[in-house]
Amino acid sequence: MPFDRTVKIAPSILSADFADFGREIQAVEAQGADWIHVDVMDGHFVPNLTFGPPAVKAFRKHVKTVMDVHLMIAPVDPYIYAYAEAGTDILTAHVEAGPHTHRTLQAIRAAGMKAGVALNPGTPAQAVEHLLDLADLVCVMTVNPGFGGQKFINLTDKIRTLRAMIGDRPVHIEIDGGVTPDTAPLVVNAGADVLVAGSAVFKGGSVDNPTPYGDNIRAIRMAATAVAA
Ligand code: DX5
Ligand code: ZN
Repeated sequence: MPFDRTVKIAPSILSADFADFGREIQAVEAQGADWIHVDVMDGHFVPNLTFGPPAVKAFRKHVKTVMDVHLMIAPVDPYIYAYAEAGTDILTAHVEAGPHTHRTLQAIRAAGMKAGVALNPGTPAQAVEHLLDLADLVCVMTVNPGFGGQKFINLTDKIRTLRAMIGDRPVHIEIDGGVTPDTAPLVVNAGADVLVAGSAVFKGGSVDNPTPYGDNIRAIRMAATAVAA
């Protein structure tokens, strides 16, 4: 199957109701989500704390699409097996999380998952240049990781550099932070294909009133695909 570079919307459940993750996942998938983005934070690598492997394993029971797990933790390596066991499809680690990202990406693939590498806003594209053959996804953070609902940092130059570096490799470019119908066209135009969106997807809706989720997903997709076409 050819590599899928069409625009995919990945709602971040960081903006969901934390008391109702199962139904929130079902609701956004029914409303058109392509992937489910799961933000794991350790209160150390980032100044916020979310959930760990047992919770992620429980989410898996509800995810019918792709479970995209974004680790904002350090260290990463001791937890790789637990996230594989939890049913993760794509496991992303930060290049800033330790000195041996090369080994981490190898270990993620060896555990049977697709491997992603994430860059903080201040980290240059070149930090992943020699990792691209070991990666299935590069996540460009367009906010400083830790919280949903922050203002988009325009890093289109970095995205363009990465897109050129990736060339024909089957590697997704994912954008995480501040994605809205206004910012989505900028990043897709620069070469991104996976758009994470938390607040812009969940705003105005709930599990009992999920149609705004669908409206929000369609608005982002339409704005993004207008430039992709
Ligand atoms: C930030 C997380 C993001 C976050 C995005 O640390 O990695 O996935 O949920 O939230 P929004 O879309 O609200 O910026
Ligand atoms: Zn994320």
